[in-house]
Amino acid sequence: MPDEDGYFGEAVAARYDQSSAEMFDPSVVEPAVDFLAELAAEGRALELGIGTGRVALPLAARGVPVHGIELSKAMVARLRAKPGGDEIGVTIGDFSTATADGTFSLAYLVFNTIGNLTTQEAQAACFRNVARQLEPGGCFAIEVGVPGLRRLPPDETFHVFDASATHWGIDEYDVANQGLVSHHFSLVGGRWQLLSMPFRYVWPSELDLMAELAGMTLRERWSDWRRAPFTSESQKHISVWERR
Ligand SMILES: C[S@@+](CC[C@H](N)C(=O)[O-])C[C@H]1O[C@@H](n2cnc3c(N)ncnc32)[C@H](O)[C@@H]1O
Repeated sequence: MPDEDGYFGEAVAARYDQSSAEMFDPSVVEPAVDFLAELAAEGRALELGIGTGRVALPLAARGVPVHGIELSKAMVARLRAKPGGDEIGVTIGDFSTATADGTFSLAYLVFNTIGNLTTQEAQAACFRNVARQLEPGGCFAIEVGVPGLRRLPPDETFHVFDASATHWGIDEYDVANQGLVSHHFSLVGGRWQLLSMPFRYVWPSELDLMAELAGMTLRERWSDWRRAPFTSESQKHISVWERR
């Protein structure tokens, strides 16, 4: 259940880097950091939902000044404990409303985190909040899965997305409300634990409209950080909108 840290409280934060280990692999992180460093150019970068610094720390190590907005103090404590973590400014708050000082050439929101905002209103507010903090010509980059409805047979609401000896991941769809609960069953210290987290899945075209309403225009869309083309088969996208 969520507490004042949201769904990423102490228990989740303590295991985050380990339970998301494949996302920390250099083969995953480096292309993202290359892409984002290029977009930031000579400017500052704002990470929404900075977490434990998976992307922010290597991006800062490239010389890009990074600031974060983050709801969970427990996640930020893990960032602070890492080398370089103390040098990254973090605003504690909700990234759909909270602001940081100054303006940025780049804002980014990775690893499906736009879906942690579970209403259309909050997701649209996030785009407006980002637009207010970007310099003219600044960019907003999002990494998020394409809603997986094509994998859902008629009359089914559950989709198993991972099955291993230590983890089962099952997405539960609420199609009428564009809602999704990700259920994670994990074997921890010999006991199975369940963590369920709500998301709002969102279509690329819907994100484009939110951007448009916030004064931003789609600049590029790819299926990965190495700029593979986005196609009908793509399971995720990297989209970049530019502030007009
Ligand atoms: C999946 S983690 C991603 C962390 C980091 N960006 C990464 O790629 O490893 C999502 C993070 O976003 C934070 N978060 C979720 N909703 C938020 C909100 N509305 N405002 C601020 N932070 C939020 C969570 O606390 C968590 O640290």
